[in-house]
Amino acid sequence: MNRENTEIDSLAIRNAILQAKETAYSNSQNGPDLPKLDKIDWPLNCTVGPGLEGAIACETEIGYVNGSKGQLVYRGYDIFDLCAYSTYEEVCYLLLHGKLPSEKEFASFRKKLNSYLFIPDTIRLMVGFPVEQWSTMSALRLGVNFMRQKQTYRDDAASAARTDNLASDEDSFAMENPPKGAEHAVYEFFGRLFGKPSSVKEDLTSSEEVDSCYRLIAGVATMTAVISRLNSGSLPIEPDSSLSHAANLLYMTTGKKPTPLEEKIMDICLILHADHGMNASTFAAMVVASTLSDLYFSVGAGVSALNGPLHGGANEQVMITLKKIGSPKKVPQWFENMCKEKRKIPGFGHRVYKTYDPRARILGPMTSLLAAQKPAMKDLYLTAQALEKIVVSTYGETKRIFPNVDFYSGLVYSSLGIGQKMFTPLFAVSRVAGWTARILEYMKHNRIFRPRALYTGPRDLVYTPMEQRQTSKQLTAA
Ligand SMILES: CC(C)(COP(=O)(O)OP(=O)(O)OC[C@H]1O[C@@H](n2cnc3c(N)ncnc32)[C@H](O)[C@@H]1OP(=O)(O)O)[C@@H](O)C(=O)NCCC(=O)NCCS
Repeated sequence: MNRENTEIDSLAIRNAILQAKETAYSNSQNGPDLPKLDKIDWPLNCTVGPGLEGAIACETEIGYVNGSKGQLVYRGYDIFDLCAYSTYEEVCYLLLHGKLPSEKEFASFRKKLNSYLFIPDTIRLMVGFPVEQWSTMSALRLGVNFMRQKQTYRDDAASAARTDNLASDEDSFAMENPPKGAEHAVYEFFGRLFGKPSSVKEDLTSSEEVDSCYRLIAGVATMTAVISRLNSGSLPIEPDSSLSHAANLLYMTTGKKPTPLEEKIMDICLILHADHGMNASTFAAMVVASTLSDLYFSVGAGVSALNGPLHGGANEQVMITLKKIGSPKKVPQWFENMCKEKRKIPGFGHRVYKTYDPRARILGPMTSLLAAQKPAMKDLYLTAQALEKIVVSTYGETKRIFPNVDFYSGLVYSSLGIGQKMFTPLFAVSRVAGWTARILEYMKHNRIFRPRALYTGPRDLVYTPMEQRQTSKQLTAA
């Protein structure tokens, strides 16, 4: 691809995003704006529902979701602007450090992040497991534990005496591409110096912990790509230091260097999923961190929460649905049947957004750009468009149901050559930035999470010895 085409692609992407921003702003509801709060007096009075719905657990400066206006903001910056002008690496820095980096800060951050993509020792552990028999999310959960051991040595009292760390350039395990010798060996050397902290600090906000955030952001990306390779019977691919985070992720997953269009759209997906309020996985990660467990365990908890179909994974269902529908002209009949059966349509509706999810507004046009270049995706894209139209015209006004982020993300990932089984791990690759940023912020004024439950069970029961107890069947018969 020549430079002129690349520039046309990035311009087309930026214009599409800015156009989507304009539409979003002109259609936005007159919902309440974020109130200006200088000081909060705790405890707060608020209405709390089951699942802590509506409860306010902490203050944050990291991100804000306005569900009635369809706004998503990271550290004060609108998601549309971040997608149009920024990169995932810059957004990670912004989330973790609270400001956009200077050129120098960015260069040093990127260098670190790039070097932390190399985790040969951890991969070595991973290839020893029958990953192809595991679900990709349980493999990722395991991978985060391996990272914890290899990067912190927390459970390894005898770690100081270890000398058995083989670099991949010593052929300790097979790789799809030849390891890079000297360059890689340098990383191994540095990895040894910095990979073993002298002490385990309880303060999760120390610079050592910030470094762990970088390691996790990079490591989860590499680990996800490795899982994808092993899961499909291929060998892992070593990262390429010259590539961006998004390009490396695609390269390590598919084995092909992405085109600039693919790279930019992957980058946008990473930005869009990086943070989203106190969602279940973020909260799970924060709860674990609040016990003064460590960042790796906390991120592991985030991965576990993301595994559930109510959180990650709706995009897989969207892809299954679109394939099942088959073509745009079959949409009306299919939709009518779904309505009759009162069934929910995957990729629509949201607990917080009662208007268009801004992330869907951005991903829709991105899918269109990809579909124009990938004929195989065209029919699915047209089916999606037809479905969006009919659902919004039927339920938009009446039930406030619009496409959510999952509606187009599966189509985007498929167009980028990523298999369906990897969609949820990919979510983790991005969200690890939000998890770690929110943990760092919360730990500055840590208070262990400890909500209460209303006890509605019986009291004052008299204990019966086991031999006198009846089975459930006997109780029913009596
Ligand atoms: C995301 C979701 C759980 C949000 O749920 P919620 O805010 O609690 O909304 P409810 O489930 O209470 O639904 C409210 C009404 O909208 C309807 N509704 C919600 N989502 C719907 C969908 N995807 N398709 C059709 N109707 C839907 C419900 O049937 C209900 O209708 P009713 O009032 O006539 O009974 C829900 O929209 C859903 O299950 N969507 C599909 C799965 C999905 O895409 N998940 C990814 C979210 S990012």
